[in-house]
Amino acid sequence: MKRNTAEIRLGDSQEQEGDLPVRSVGRLSGKRVLVTGAGRGIGAKIAESFAREGASLVITEVPGEMGRLNDVADELRQTYGKEIEGIMLDIRSDQSITECANKLKTDGLDIDYLVNNAGVNMLVPALEVTPKQWDQIMDINLKGTFFLTQQIAKGMVKRRSGSIVMLASQHGVVANENRAPYCASKAGLVHLTKALALEWAKYGIRVNAVSPTFVATEANREHVEDPRFRRMSLPKIPLRKLAVPSDIAEAVLFLASDQAGMITGHNLIVDGGWTVA
Ligand SMILES: NC(=O)c1ccc[n+]([C@@H]2O[C@H](COP(=O)([O-])OP(=O)(O)OC[C@H]3O[C@@H](n4cnc5c(N)ncnc54)[C@H](O)[C@@H]3O)[C@@H](O)[C@H]2O)c1
Repeated sequence: MKRNTAEIRLGDSQEQEGDLPVRSVGRLSGKRVLVTGAGRGIGAKIAESFAREGASLVITEVPGEMGRLNDVADELRQTYGKEIEGIMLDIRSDQSITECANKLKTDGLDIDYLVNNAGVNMLVPALEVTPKQWDQIMDINLKGTFFLTQQIAKGMVKRRSGSIVMLASQHGVVANENRAPYCASKAGLVHLTKALALEWAKYGIRVNAVSPTFVATEANREHVEDPRFRRMSLPKIPLRKLAVPSDIAEAVLFLASDQAGMITGHNLIVDGGWTVA
């Protein structure tokens, strides 16, 4: 019987998870990164990759996820011996953003790299989207991300240096059904990246985006293992596998670091070829 190559490759991809053979070269020693939504999933992996490369970390989470964030911070401290600060931050709230910025200032925590990872999705047919759902997605993926970036960029402007990476999505480039607000928010984020890159280049600040395809994380494991999801999604990915968090973390690390010193306003699509066709 002929086997479905799409299904075979998904298995391969899952075996790779968290397992990329990357050797640390300490390329971020002496630098500090702020990663939002780092209590789980892609954000936790990004935090680990920066710690592995020698960076100090400020990682943030919403109030209900502080337990997870503290676990991530403890593990990274033990593994990499770096300075890791966990801060409560809800980017839907102006007050929370201001409090976070004030704490960084009071504690003298200059941020060299900002990774805007926090984001939400909702699968709802466009005809049924409510104003509340629209606002929730836009307030987190676009508005909150912008106003946090504005606060952090003030310090970068003073130091005439900094690098910002936005977690956008392939769905900011190509559409998919039942995701109208999400697609719109991520497309907005890709263009916001360009606008900020243009405006802040004079301060030595680079702004880039990473746009993943579907990423197999702990939180969405049930969804991505659903055979119906596999049948619909894998044939659209020429490499016939989903991304794993380390695929995304390494792309973010590259764009943030000085190795990408001539790259700004770019959207690095990490999609196994989905958007090529
Ligand atoms: N997983 C995927 O398939 C995929 C694909 C493309 C893009 N992305 C993007 O990558 C990023 C991370 O995705 P993930 O799969 O790890 O998601 P996730 O839901 O596992 O993690 C998102 C994190 O953001 C935090 N968060 C939510 N609301 C927040 C708020 N108001 N303020 C601050 N933090 C908040 C959550 O607590 C969570 O820790 C998101 O921006 C997402 O849109 C994910």
